[in-house]
Amino acid sequence: MKKTRPRQSLATDVIHAGQVPDPTTGAIMPPIYATSTYVQPALGKFTGYDYARTINPTRSALERNIAALEGGTRAFAFASGMAGITTIMALLAAGDHVVVSHNVYGGTYRLFEQVLRNLGLDFTWVDTSDLRNIRTAIRGSTRMLYIETPTNPILTLTDIRGASLIARHHRLILVVDNTFMTPVFQRPMELGADIVVHSTTKYLNGHSDSLGGAVVVRGQEHADRLAFIQNSIGAVMSPFEAWLVLRGIKTLVLRMERHDRSGRKLADYLAGHRKVRRVYYPGLPGNPQRALARRQMSGYGGMISFDLVGYARAKRFLDRLRLCALAESLGGVETLISHPATMTHSSVPEPERARLGITPGLVRLSVGIENVEDLITDLERGLAAI
Ligand SMILES: Cc1ncc(COP(=O)(O)O)c(C=O)c1O
Repeated sequence: MKKTRPRQSLATDVIHAGQVPDPTTGAIMPPIYATSTYVQPALGKFTGYDYARTINPTRSALERNIAALEGGTRAFAFASGMAGITTIMALLAAGDHVVVSHNVYGGTYRLFEQVLRNLGLDFTWVDTSDLRNIRTAIRGSTRMLYIETPTNPILTLTDIRGASLIARHHRLILVVDNTFMTPVFQRPMELGADIVVHSTTKYLNGHSDSLGGAVVVRGQEHADRLAFIQNSIGAVMSPFEAWLVLRGIKTLVLRMERHDRSGRKLADYLAGHRKVRRVYYPGLPGNPQRALARRQMSGYGGMISFDLVGYARAKRFLDRLRLCALAESLGGVETLISHPATMTHSSVPEPERARLGITPGLVRLSVGIENVEDLITDLERGLAAI
């Protein structure tokens, strides 16, 4: 497995990076600065704080922390992952063209196709796991390459280093959605990405109790422009949410290690079960992208998708579970299970879903940090109902 940086350093950074004791009281945890404005000491004397949409100390603490974890120049926190992605796309102008992984989160697909296309952006959806498809899709107006790796829910990988070389050659902005792996297992900036995006709703917060997004950029030019757009659009994360995410991140390394350990075990269990047709998990020995996974990731994580063949069988399985919670979202301490075709990916047109492998029998599992044997017992209960 690739060791991108000493584990101890990241384990320390999640707790300390960007954090300073509160200058007034010494409080070791950043206070929740619930304020919309800041009193100026005198006309013409600027303290650096003017208005809460522009800057908030709790949000800034989180932004410094995430920038350090991803190894970027600067990070920005948003009201949701989609707010972050929308802000990134405002780097572009009408007429610009984007090459996108064809199997991204359904909400990203909806934003690009049903909102941003109306504003004059153009998108070509390709299987970016084959770098040749990226090269073929690039045209004169292409400005950005947007990839999600692993993809949601089929867990297809894109070679980030390879994609970054193509992006550099054609002067494209390379954006990587790193929600599934987090900087614990995958560090896209070190592989050449310009921008990393997260739904902090997922693993970074980790406790299924907040909605948020983060965008990390490399280079001062992108940092300045993103700061300007973040303030202009104003879809910022609230100080309370920023405090929650900061709190969640402190255990990120511990949680990810556990998600990964249990994920491997459950993937093995499912792959060996006669009622499961196919298991999607980059760490399985038969996975054709396992070598790439080992090269660019230092863990496989806790996301597993599997096909139970047909809606009726998937429903019988899901209805019988007692511990795994049937819910959208992922990355929480509790195990969540979902049916992508009717839940997270229902906005993707049916023929497109079929092409991607999002069949009526596909189930997506976000493995939590419960006792793994209890999880196996629950899955066994569901499979017995088929
Ligand atoms: C990979 C990925 N990116 C982005 C998003 C959007 O994030 P949010 O729901 O916080 O807006 C999601 C949400 O499920 C996701 O799974």
